[in-house]
Amino acid sequence: MMGRRDLVIPLDWFVCPVLKKPLTLKGACLVSPAGSYERNQTYGFWNFIPKDLRDLQRQEWKTWEILQQNSVVSYRADPRNNLGVGKRQDFDEFSTFCHFSGIVLDVGVGPQKAPSHIRYCKRPDVHFVGIDPLVGIQPRIFSFVQGLGEYLPFRADLFDQVIFATALDHFIDPLAALLEAKRVVKNEGTICVWIGEKDRNAPKPSRSHKWYEKLFVPQGADDPFHYKRLNAQSFAAYAVEAGLSVENHLAFPVDRWRRNLFYRLSK
Ligand SMILES: C[S@@+](CC[C@H](N)C(=O)[O-])C[C@H]1O[C@@H](n2cnc3c(N)ncnc32)[C@H](O)[C@@H]1O
Repeated sequence: MMGRRDLVIPLDWFVCPVLKKPLTLKGACLVSPAGSYERNQTYGFWNFIPKDLRDLQRQEWKTWEILQQNSVVSYRADPRNNLGVGKRQDFDEFSTFCHFSGIVLDVGVGPQKAPSHIRYCKRPDVHFVGIDPLVGIQPRIFSFVQGLGEYLPFRADLFDQVIFATALDHFIDPLAALLEAKRVVKNEGTICVWIGEKDRNAPKPSRSHKWYEKLFVPQGADDPFHYKRLNAQSFAAYAVEAGLSVENHLAFPVDRWRRNLFYRLSK
């Protein structure tokens, strides 16, 4: 287990998430011509969500805000079915598939103190860095940064692995996130992605929870939680567009209509 001091991310790992240029420390802030980024006053992690960026004023991001609010309702009401919580076979399978090593960036790491694949990782040589827009439960047991997968605040060629565990289909722009992963992973590194694929004809659950019935699907979204659900075909198209090669992939059936798809990509 790492001590709290080992979880502090060196400042020279960071760049401006918008310009990808070095940041200057001014007082307590990291500054670039595109903006100023601050630490959380209580827990000390950096917040790299760009402020006042025109791109983030678009309708898609307003939709994303509502999807995030809906997701938080589900994470609070039913964490075990919506997040990696506790020891789980599917997370063990993903960990085995990833074969974590070195410095691993988890994009969309979740609001948990640690998702299952980090909590139960037995390899002392692995250093997990997680990024998520949600502050979640603090302090985390891994290095944490608040931010967006589409705007990673890390310098190029830094990580041995970048992973997305059931997160990419919550993003507004999966292509931008894959391009960012490609930028920050080392040339010999890997990007591992877990997509939960669900057929369009999957039957609705016979009984839904009261909290679920109150959620609404915001403009342009596929359902209350996902902007665009991904499947094998749409994911493969994003990987090609990002210039990434699929080195390996596995599919684990969940039921007749759902399966977990794991991909290992390289530059
Ligand atoms: C279903 S949860 C998965 C959490 C965790 N990976 C796990 O397996 O338990 C999806 C996560 O993606 C995060 N997320 C949504 N949009 C994101 C974005 N644009 N950039 C980074 N993370 C995002 C959410 O805040 C949420 O924590």
